[in-house]
Amino acid sequence: MTKILIGSDHGGYKLKNEIIKHLKSLDFEVEDYGCYSEESCDYPEVAKKVAESVLDTNNKGILVCGTGIGMSIVANRYNGIRASHCTDTFTARMTRMHNDSNVLCLGERITGVGLALDIVDIWLKTDFEGGRHLRRINMY
Ligand code: RB5
Repeated sequence: MTKILIGSDHGGYKLKNEIIKHLKSLDFEVEDYGCYSEESCDYPEVAKKVAESVLDTNNKGILVCGTGIGMSIVANRYNGIRASHCTDTFTARMTRMHNDSNVLCLGERITGVGLALDIVDIWLKTDFEGGRHLRRINMY
């Protein structure tokens, strides 16, 4: 069973819970790295935990904050993390096919629940194309 490592700050807490519910209904195993309430917290702490765990375990990660941007900036500081901030399904598909994205970043204050869950589904089911895209990934 594929395990998804997920985290949010207070700005992404509600959307994260919707995503967890959705993933569990599809039989994914989910590991929640916090936060665990809507109390204000610091997104870099959660992004670091998820990024390190993705690198350690080779599972995929999902990070949610208010915009998705802070989470993606922090996660992309780790060599081997390819975090993609997506607000549409086309980007979600392409970033798997061409970038082998291993962390998806979403913004609760930008993307509604319905679209966010579609983005998650497409991002999870789309395979990396490899070939010339692998060569390009190996250049950084
Ligand atoms: C928190 O207010 C907000 O700054 C955070 O959730 C995120 O959007 C940062 O990029």
